Amino acid sequence: LKTNRNMGKLWSKAIEDHSEIDLEESKKLNDYRLAAHAFIWSKNDQSLWELSSKASIMMQMRFDGFIGFPGGLIDSTDASVVDGLNRELREEINLNEKYYITNENYFFSSVNHQRKIILHFYVKEVTQTELIGIEKAALDSHDYGTEVMGIIRPPLYDIKPGRGFNIFLQNQFVGNSLLQLLKTMSLLDILDNQTILKFIDSC
Ligand code: GTP
Ligand code: MN
Ligand code: MN
Ligand code: MN
Ligand code: MN
Ligand code: MN
Repeated sequence: LKTNRNMGKLWSKAIEDHSEIDLEESKKLNDYRLAAHAFIWSKNDQSLWELSSKASIMMQMRFDGFIGFPGGLIDSTDASVVDGLNRELREEINLNEKYYITNENYFFSSVNHQRKIILHFYVKEVTQTELIGIEKAALDSHDYGTEVMGIIRPPLYDIKPGRGFNIFLQNQFVGNSLLQLLKTMSLLDILDNQTILKFIDSC
């Protein structure tokens, strides 16, 4: 997914403020804060009308009104980035340790030099039944109702004109989480690039 197109003002700022950074390069920026977030998803063959959404992706409504992924800042007491991420996933979505993120789930990293923050992104695939269990457990999390106002699935429906996923894109997304969503959907082939670019052009 090319990010240098003229993408509309909704998320051009997120792209301006963040750039992709190699994991090893990011380790040299040692006065930067670290955060890590997770894209937990399953394949989905359920359909609504004749449309298939192909996948279910877990996102959340945050306390600040923005949509983002579960995860958060890595604290000095966390033994590693994935340990910090798993702590945040426990706090925010009550994630059972059998689904904990490992280094094998690493996807890519972004940096915001103004804010001096590095954002690591991890992807974990589970089965559809497991995802439903994870969603149900999330309602019992420590942060549910305070930091986390809801667990949501982006509606991956292409309903013309301008409904479904298109309407979802009109939300406000924290950091560069919209880029994380679209890029990961492209890399996992959940939506083809052409469809993603069409959505981007429309917002
Ligand atoms: P507290 O537990 O209240 O300290 O928050 P947190 O540790 O859960 O941190 P949070 O999830 O808010 O993430 C820290 C910073 O990362 C935020 O200030 C956002 O700018 C950014 N951020 C939050 N969610 C996402 C996300 O899904 N993607 C990206 N790229 N950035 C995010
Ligand atoms: Mn109905
Ligand atoms: Mn948190
Ligand atoms: Mn968080
Ligand atoms: Mn935190
Ligand atoms: Mn917290």
